[in-house]
This record gives sequence, structure tokens and C-alpha cells, in this order.
Amino acid sequence: MQYQSGFGNEFATEAVTGALPQGQNAPQRAPLGLYTEQFSGTPFTAPRAVNRRTWTYRIRPSVTHKPYEEIDAKLIRSGPFNEVPTPPNQLRWNPLPIPDAPTDFIDGMVTLGGNGDAAMQSGVAIHIYAANASMADRFFYNADGEMLLVPQQGVLGIHTELGRMDVAPGEICVLPRGLKFRVEIPEGSARGYICENYGLPFRLPELGPIGANGLANARDFLAPTAAYEDRDGDFTIVSKFLGRLWRAEIDHSPLDVVAWHGNYVPYKYDLARFNCINSVSFDHPDPSIYTVLTAPSPIAGTANVDFAIFPPRWMVAEHTFRPPWFHRNLMNEFMGLVFGQYDAKAEGFVPGGASLHNCMAGHGPDAETYERAIAADLKPQYLANTLAFMFETQLVIRPTRFALETKVLQHEYYECWQNLKKHFKSVSNG
Ligand SMILES: [Fe+2]
Repeated sequence: MQYQSGFGNEFATEAVTGALPQGQNAPQRAPLGLYTEQFSGTPFTAPRAVNRRTWTYRIRPSVTHKPYEEIDAKLIRSGPFNEVPTPPNQLRWNPLPIPDAPTDFIDGMVTLGGNGDAAMQSGVAIHIYAANASMADRFFYNADGEMLLVPQQGVLGIHTELGRMDVAPGEICVLPRGLKFRVEIPEGSARGYICENYGLPFRLPELGPIGANGLANARDFLAPTAAYEDRDGDFTIVSKFLGRLWRAEIDHSPLDVVAWHGNYVPYKYDLARFNCINSVSFDHPDPSIYTVLTAPSPIAGTANVDFAIFPPRWMVAEHTFRPPWFHRNLMNEFMGLVFGQYDAKAEGFVPGGASLHNCMAGHGPDAETYERAIAADLKPQYLANTLAFMFETQLVIRPTRFALETKVLQHEYYECWQNLKKHFKSVSNG
């Protein structure tokens, strides 16, 4: 597998030598009898720094399909998320099981919640995928938003219009709005998390006083090289459009781009490359220090959604409560666990599971973690074997009916804080 490195670059790639026009975008006749098609992820008039578009040179243009007809979206939901009232409770789920019946990536998507509205290009949806079958003859694109995939179990072989990526647990990938793709499950099963971002595309966060380097470095993001399918047959394209799923017949693979250049691309990133920055004196910084990618809202400093991770790292802070502190927040925090154990939870938050702490819901370490942390000998400690992440969003994440009625909801989650003891003594012992 070959990749091109960088974030938001002007990439250029051809699967057949000579397929990519030189010196212009739209020659009268594109090389090798290909069709020219521009694929835009931002308005033409977006400022240069955030403008995203790719020129594709393909066997057939994207218009060559039959009309779309609506199909059952099963457990996929989109904004407005108003199926059921949203409780102010802290919520936590066990992992969704891998299905027994053959289930591909599309059928394996289950929405746990979301906010905003795809039609307003604002907000997010959060899905789990649990699948055991490859997509061979059907393809998918999402007009409602880009999709950030966080695999938790099993490699995904993602074949896109712009080339192929293998994405394993510990890595993430982002599939831009509108990109057609199919997903293979080479190991027989796969599960993970999806942040569907209806808003402005993910970008790297500003670094401010950190400087020119650190956190996720641009060179570690990998985009595919051109690879195409020249396949005829009875295929279908599934479109997610304004929250509904639609299906159209097509007599060839739409993954037929032979060459392309541009900066509107799928990409993957190995989370082990994240240059983790934290306190070397005292006190835990705000968890925004762990931001990998951010998708801004129109309000400065307020993300439509941030993607943050809690990777293996050293804890060296002195005279400090080292786990994440107790906290109430305007923002809304959905967490998942790829592997290992999260440092704020001694038990109950397991790989493949999830938690949700919405606006102003108190949360923090469980009783066992708290007692251990206040008694700990604060020697340097390496947190190995841990990879948790957070989708943190501006708007309340409203659970779906499924999320509140599923058997994997942990109704006893609140109990993990009930043993937090009263330590207060009105007269100091000191
Ligand atoms: Fe928090």
C-alpha cells in the first residue's frame, strides 16, 4: 500500500503513467480517453487556506447512474435527533456485538446519538459500526457530512474513488463528504466508532504557544495514491442524503478514477504518531491539549466537534491529582475506548464501549480511581496500553431511541460515583 504524506496538500497521483494532465485541469480531451470531473468539498469561493477540491480523471463521469430510490435506513439516524427526550444523566454503553448474520459496513452502522441538523450543515452524528461482510458490489457516499472512523476491532480495507487505504485499530481515517467508497472486512469482523461531521471539515488545531510542531504533525497524515476499478456489473450506490438512505443502480464500479490532483482527499493517521504534550510541573491541563483534529463552528474557539485522544504517555506532574479532574462543562463529551484502560475509570468502561457526558452533567473519576489517586506515590508513571478518545461537541448529543433502549446501556453507570466518600473535616489536622 502506497500513500502520500501531508495534511491538506496539493497531491498529484496517477495509476497509469500519462493519465494526469500537465499544466492545466481540463484539456479539450483528457489523456487516455478519460473524463474530467472536479470534486469540491468547499464553495469555489472559500478562502484559499481552507479551499478543498480535487480534479479527477475517470473512466466515466459520476452522472452515469439510474435514479435513486429510498431504502430502509435501519438503525441509522440523522438530525434533528428528537425520537426520545434527552436525559441529563451520564450514560455508558457496553460494546455492540458483532452481528451473526452477514452484515456489511452500511448495514452495520447504528446511530447512538447526535446533534444539529445535516440540512443546516451543523452538528454531528455518532455511530458504531459492527460488521462481518465486505462490500463488493455496493458503494456508499455521504452527502450529509465527512466521516471520521475510529476502528476498535479489525482492519478496514477502504477502497475509495481516490485510492485505497488499510486502516487498523490504533489508526483513524477521514472520508470526505461525497466521496464514494466501499469497505472490505479482511479479518472477518470489524467494529469501531464513526463521527459524522455535518459541519466544516476537520482541520489541524492551531498550536499557539506550543509552536510550530507537536500534537498531530501534518506529515504523518497519509492520503491514498490513485487506484481504480475497471469493472462492469450490476452494482448499487447507496447515498446518505438529508438523513435518509437512497439506492441507485449503476452498471460499473464508480471507483474508476485513474488519476487525480488536489487537496480534497481521504486520509488516515496513526494515533501512535501523536506527539502528546502534558504537564511537566503540576496540574492536569485541560483535555483540549489532546486535540488531534478540530472542526470549527462559526463561533471562534467553539468546535462543532473536536477529536481528542488519551494515548500511552508519561505522568510526571507533582503534588497533583493526576487523573482527569471532576468536571462540568458546556461542551458535550462522547468517549470511546480502542484498547486498554482509561485512567479515570477503574472498571466498566471497556474497549468498544462508550460513554456520554452532556452539557453540565457532572463527571470524573470513579470512587476507586479517586481513592487511589489521592494516596498515590507520585513517581513518574508510564500509562501503557491505553487508547481512549473523545468526540467533544458544541451542542448536546441527543441519544437515539436505540441508544436508550438497547440492552448494552449500563443502567448502573451512576453507581461508580456513589462510593465517593465525604472526606471533609471542619478542623484541619495540620
Ligand atoms: Fe469532561
